[in-house]
Amino acid sequence: MASSRRVLVTGSSGLIGSETVTYFEGRGWEVHGVDNNMRRDFFGPDGDTTWNLERLLGSTRRFVHHDLDIRDRQAVLALTKTHRPDLIVHCAAQPSHDLAKDRPFDDFDVNAVGTLNLLESARHGCPDAPFVFMSTNKVYGDAPNDMPLVELETRWEYARPEDYHGVSETCRLDRCVHSLLGASKLAADVLVQEYGRYFGMPTVCLRGGCFTGPNHSGAELHGFLAYLARAIREQRPYRIYGYKGKQVRDNIHAHDVCAFIDAFYREPRSGAVYNLGGGRANSVSMLEAIARLEERIGNTLSVEYVDRHRVGDHICYISDLRKAQSDYPGWGIEYSLDRIVDELGAVGVAAHTSRRA
Ligand SMILES: NC(=O)c1ccc[n+]([C@@H]2O[C@H](COP(=O)([O-])OP(=O)(O)OC[C@H]3O[C@@H](n4cnc5c(N)ncnc54)[C@H](O)[C@@H]3O)[C@@H](O)[C@H]2O)c1
Repeated sequence: MASSRRVLVTGSSGLIGSETVTYFEGRGWEVHGVDNNMRRDFFGPDGDTTWNLERLLGSTRRFVHHDLDIRDRQAVLALTKTHRPDLIVHCAAQPSHDLAKDRPFDDFDVNAVGTLNLLESARHGCPDAPFVFMSTNKVYGDAPNDMPLVELETRWEYARPEDYHGVSETCRLDRCVHSLLGASKLAADVLVQEYGRYFGMPTVCLRGGCFTGPNHSGAELHGFLAYLARAIREQRPYRIYGYKGKQVRDNIHAHDVCAFIDAFYREPRSGAVYNLGGGRANSVSMLEAIARLEERIGNTLSVEYVDRHRVGDHICYISDLRKAQSDYPGWGIEYSLDRIVDELGAVGVAAHTSRRA
């Protein structure tokens, strides 16, 4: 029997938002998506999400799209009041730390103030609905770079055995370089925690590692694996910034993010915080990722090495998933790195072809 539950998803044409739409719609939910395609404004044609919105509209029956800017406070308040969702998944963002320095007001208005608009709308319209905020590991700034490292042939690696599982939620948040994006997301992250702790609302911050999947509008400034696959496929020159290309990222498929959101919905907590990436098993360095995707796609990438790392960039970042797994033992990573690479190599061709059609 169809469920009458309703979810409000912001950033619904983006990578995580669109996966959230299909995940919950496919389980009988009514889905209200909010997206104004600001990703195109941020990243140009590569970031245009129109293709993804059209895909969603063509493949779902209980999805309603709202072309709305989350900076529009009154519109956000009215939307939540009208639909009173059972769950809010807030994915809309300016997601690039490199871009934030060129657009500091847009970055803060979207990431921090936009989140406040949504929190207030939830407090007044649906205070009992779990509120999921897609935060980021950039809230830790470059503090994770304090962990001692060793240089291996293709990657940086933690030197101490106690760091094996990666960065936990106890990592410090201040006295480090965040980039303006890290600062605006941290402001939002603290607000989301506060609405949980102060008002007792069921809120959670999911501090993402690298999110990935075939529905990312991969742009040079955002979308690591998706853009890399695109560069290899389309023979675009690709720049590596610093750390000898051995910087490590942990990659989590959008589906596994949604499965965690579902687990939180079923058993919400107040003011919760989790690191959510692919963990050690899904960690890969740039050099390793290039080699894997080149092999999968069958092209060679033309790489330009820039001997200057991005400001605040992590050298080795692996999300410690133990807290998430201990609080939600039914949840785990379903998409291995092999599966992710395979999908990006194969499905990406279809997605990008239909995007141009
Ligand atoms: N992709 C990653 O690797 C990653 C890592 C850590 C955290 N995150 C966070 O997860 C969330 C989702 O990331 P994603 O990769 O799906 O991003 P995305 O850029 O693919 O999707 C975000 C969507 O939000 C929309 N948007 C932006 N500003 C808006 C506004 N003012 N009003 C309405 N819609 C707006 C964009 O058009 C876009 O479709 C973001 O909050 C991001 O900061 C992402």
